[in-house]
Amino acid sequence: QDAAIIGSKSFTAVAINCAAKAGEWIKTKLGNYEKLDIKYSSTDLVTEVDKGSETLIKRLVLTHFPHHSFLGEEGVEPGPEASVRALESKLENEYLWIVDPIDGTTNFVHGFPFFVVSIALAYRGEVIVGVVYDPMKDELFLAEKGKGAYVHGKRMSVSGEDTLRTSLIATGFPADQQYALPLNMKGLQAVAPQVRNIRSGGSAALHMAYVAAGRLSGFWEIGLNSWDLAAGSLLIQESGGTVTDSLGQPYHLGVRNVVASNGKIHDEFVGALDKAEATL
Ligand code: IPD
Ligand code: CA
Ligand code: CA
Ligand code: CA
Repeated sequence: QDAAIIGSKSFTAVAINCAAKAGEWIKTKLGNYEKLDIKYSSTDLVTEVDKGSETLIKRLVLTHFPHHSFLGEEGVEPGPEASVRALESKLENEYLWIVDPIDGTTNFVHGFPFFVVSIALAYRGEVIVGVVYDPMKDELFLAEKGKGAYVHGKRMSVSGEDTLRTSLIATGFPADQQYALPLNMKGLQAVAPQVRNIRSGGSAALHMAYVAAGRLSGFWEIGLNSWDLAAGSLLIQESGGTVTDSLGQPYHLGVRNVVASNGKIHDEFVGALDKAEATL
């Protein structure tokens, strides 16, 4: 399957190829990474496998598209300000690849099998290709702007739930325990009693992919970065769902506080978070 796409130069083929190669390599490193470092705070982790995955993807992308621009998490100084600046400095570029080489590093470190490679290509600030690859389940989620979203080659669509009451909702517990985590906890307190149940798997990108696939009806989290959300946002839009910021404004690459859903519960969801003052 892999061999069929090597040699092809389409954006999507390159994105898939990168995600598959990086994912397969990451899987071989599960349980035997060598170096664990902390970044912005003691809860913000990075290993040599995060960096190696990013290097592999960057090299492949730039080999095919030397004039494209590249934004990867591990190429950016830690912390929210640097992340915002890095994105802003690259937004002017025509073609920008936005990559999270492992989304779910904490899970990877602990051997909890819920992490992905997330790769998006934006054209003039708009995501046109999104790939999220879960190497443990060998599940590849793919979306192309205007062409739908797919998993295992099958078209995805969001869930049919039309109230929070019957919805399974996910959130994250942000590494930033100073600012983002307390707001997320407020949201949790407001949302949990209103929904069927809450899940928190520890990978924002995979939660987004699960909303697209109809396995979750919604996801929200405060304080995320462009590389956590870019690919997943297209997956959800192309599956018929809605992605906004916490005020209900349409998704763009600069969104850090995300509310994503099947669309049908979106107003109720945004309203519940807003009422709890769990958003900015
Ligand atoms: C993290 C994961 C996690 C979320 C954090 C992110 P990383 O990304 O998506 O689920 O709660 O806010 O930073 O650091 O594992 O790529
Ligand atoms: Ca990280
Ligand atoms: Ca991430
Ligand atoms: Ca990461």
